[in-house]
Amino acid sequence: MEAPYRPRLADRISRLEPFLAMEVMERAFQMEAEGLDVVHLEIGEPAAVPPLAASQAMTRALAEGETSYSDSRGLWALREAIAADYEVRFGAQVDPHNVLVTSGTSPALLLAFSLLLNPGDEVVVPAPVYPCYPNFIRFCGGSPVFVPTRPEEGFAIDVDRIVEAVTPRTRAILVNSPCNPTGAIQSRETLENLSQLGLPIFSDEIYDGLTYDGRKVASASALDVDAFVFDGFSKRYAMTGFRLGWAVVPDWATRPLQIMQQNFFISANRFVQHAGLAALKEGREEVEAMRAGYQRKRDLLVSGLRRLGFGVPTVPEGAFYVLADARVFGEDSRRLADCLLERARVGTAPGIDFGPEGEGMLRFCYAVEEGAIEEALQRLEPVLEELRVGSPATPEGKASR
Ligand SMILES: Cc1ncc(COP(=O)(O)O)c(C=O)c1O
Repeated sequence: MEAPYRPRLADRISRLEPFLAMEVMERAFQMEAEGLDVVHLEIGEPAAVPPLAASQAMTRALAEGETSYSDSRGLWALREAIAADYEVRFGAQVDPHNVLVTSGTSPALLLAFSLLLNPGDEVVVPAPVYPCYPNFIRFCGGSPVFVPTRPEEGFAIDVDRIVEAVTPRTRAILVNSPCNPTGAIQSRETLENLSQLGLPIFSDEIYDGLTYDGRKVASASALDVDAFVFDGFSKRYAMTGFRLGWAVVPDWATRPLQIMQQNFFISANRFVQHAGLAALKEGREEVEAMRAGYQRKRDLLVSGLRRLGFGVPTVPEGAFYVLADARVFGEDSRRLADCLLERARVGTAPGIDFGPEGEGMLRFCYAVEEGAIEEALQRLEPVLEELRVGSPATPEGKASR
């Protein structure tokens, strides 16, 4: 008798970990469907509305029938505008031919890792880390090699530690500045030193423009080395759901990436690309207003978290997250985040999502209304009071052993 059919997944699937911040969000959606209200600080989702010109350009493009595929690399006008924006932001010369427009930054990352990695190859990744990078790398058969950054050092990358992690199998060094989850901004000197290691730099600059206290981001686009620069409209333009991003890539990478894009994604949505173009051309003031708002919200959240007993040794300088030491409330960040969601109805991202270096921490997103931050702090206070180590309750609310 023939063996019964059993579904079998490809090995590469078993290398993937769930994205825990998304899992918290999805559980929160379920709670909301059951009639509970949840404050969402778990995911990097700006509550601000996208630039008006972007939404208008998109609806206009739809009305005018801009609904077909585009050139796989993106509309030329958008690639030109993206390239020109590097001159404005960093004084960097970017050729539009080196710009690949994708449906969000995530596909650009997946394409670039797929381009470079063979099984057994390595990518050096400072940690705590955006959870999807290790998954992209493992999916392509590679291994992330984590190099810790430390809270007491403001999560700055120590180039010597990176050098120690490089092996003959290293194919790229990843930098994410401003960083999700730490909010750290790496100095120009760090970027220059990394670029001298003779390996491609993968620089995820999706949080550029969201920096505080006058800090500026150094961009790998201004370096005279093989750099892959990733960016998109999700964060600084508050356009997450539009799904629009890009990569700036070296000359030798343009053609193979074009071939991958043609086959795997065909092109980014054409009418959404018009939104991107309008955001670049007309969205600057709205982005600045959002940025100024985030700085106030960051200060509100940092002081509130410190008051509640979280450890925040350095104030994050960019992006819109606070990665706070939560060990006084429990060592297991996943359990703690679950508990805060169920009992305080506040969504947070467990630190373990960002690698072992993040265990014992929680990440809070402050790209929400100020009222939501105040509400979250209020809801958290009594629950945390009970959880505080030494108090008679555990995250489940039962007596401690
Ligand atoms: C560091 C980083 N890179 C990339 C992404 C993905 O962005 P996109 O929405 O453009 O795919 C995110 C989203 O949270 C992120 O934090």
